[in-house]
Amino acid sequence: MNEKVLAIRKQFDDRIASISSSKEIEELRIEFAGKKGLVSSLMTELKNVPNEQKREAGQTINELKGYVEETLVNKLKELEEAELKAKIDSQESYDESMPREKKQGSYHPITLVQRQLEDIFSSMGFIVEDYSEVVNDYQCFESLNIPKHHPARDMQDTYYLENGQLLKTQTSAAQNYIMKKYGAPVRAIFPGRCFRNESTDASHENTFFQMEGIMIDKDISISNLIYFMKTMLSEVFEKDINVRLRPGFFPFTEPGFELDIQCLICDGDGCPTCKNSGWLELCPCGMIHPNVLRHGGIDPEEYTGFAFGLGMTRLAMMKYGIKDIRVLNSGNLNALSQFKND
Ligand code: DAH
Repeated sequence: MNEKVLAIRKQFDDRIASISSSKEIEELRIEFAGKKGLVSSLMTELKNVPNEQKREAGQTINELKGYVEETLVNKLKELEEAELKAKIDSQESYDESMPREKKQGSYHPITLVQRQLEDIFSSMGFIVEDYSEVVNDYQCFESLNIPKHHPARDMQDTYYLENGQLLKTQTSAAQNYIMKKYGAPVRAIFPGRCFRNESTDASHENTFFQMEGIMIDKDISISNLIYFMKTMLSEVFEKDINVRLRPGFFPFTEPGFELDIQCLICDGDGCPTCKNSGWLELCPCGMIHPNVLRHGGIDPEEYTGFAFGLGMTRLAMMKYGIKDIRVLNSGNLNALSQFKND
């Protein structure tokens, strides 16, 4: 039996020394260590060995089995490493100086509209201000003539922090800060992200953008308001826009208005977009309430002003024909990368 074991071991050693790829290892394993392999056949022959030699012979066969299996594992590892190295070495070297294809990104539609509005208002002498998204109750409500328990708060539920601060529900929250910072006279716009507790659907989002504006000076009247709004909208839509004012209620304006524009799709004839009315609601606005001026440190006997809160998200949707508001926060590049800079 010993001789047979030695013969098989020699045969195995010769074979393993001659293989050069990891794929051959499996064949070798079946041939020697498989169920019907040479080592197993020795086990079958064990029954013919005289009883007193059985133990020793069995041990020798087991040792051969262990040797074959271990050698196969080591050889496989060695071959795989060599193959990987050969693959890496054969790869063409990487040339850093080669020009690469550059993919051009694009601005978000809100950014495009915001920049356009900033340009238009800057050219009319307005400063562009930035303001925080986390504000306190005074800034968002109290200073805007909306005391605690005022029903106007119902429509503006938002996300509150543990310290009592909140995510601003309207860009009007910056009015007080701007009045205190610049005093009167002042012309400023302040775009910003707003948040409300909303169930989302095609036209409602919990996160959206507004652009607020104020103009305070001596003798500012509703005609100034109409003039600036009309000029701004005609520039945005690149054609003359007809507007109309309807009464609207906002605690921080007196009087307050809803500014509608004549429907751009049907030119006022009536269509599904404007629900057959010929008009689209676009921009709430009004004359700043004397209490709000007072909160901002401005004397309402001496100065008057107008304010507006343009729905920038809404405007972007109208300008670019976006039907579902949720696209804007989706991060879906297929949809959002269509809006190239003009
Ligand atoms: N902040 C109001 C809102 O989000 C919109 C608004 C109305 C702003 C009238 C104004 C204004 O500045 O004068 O509903």
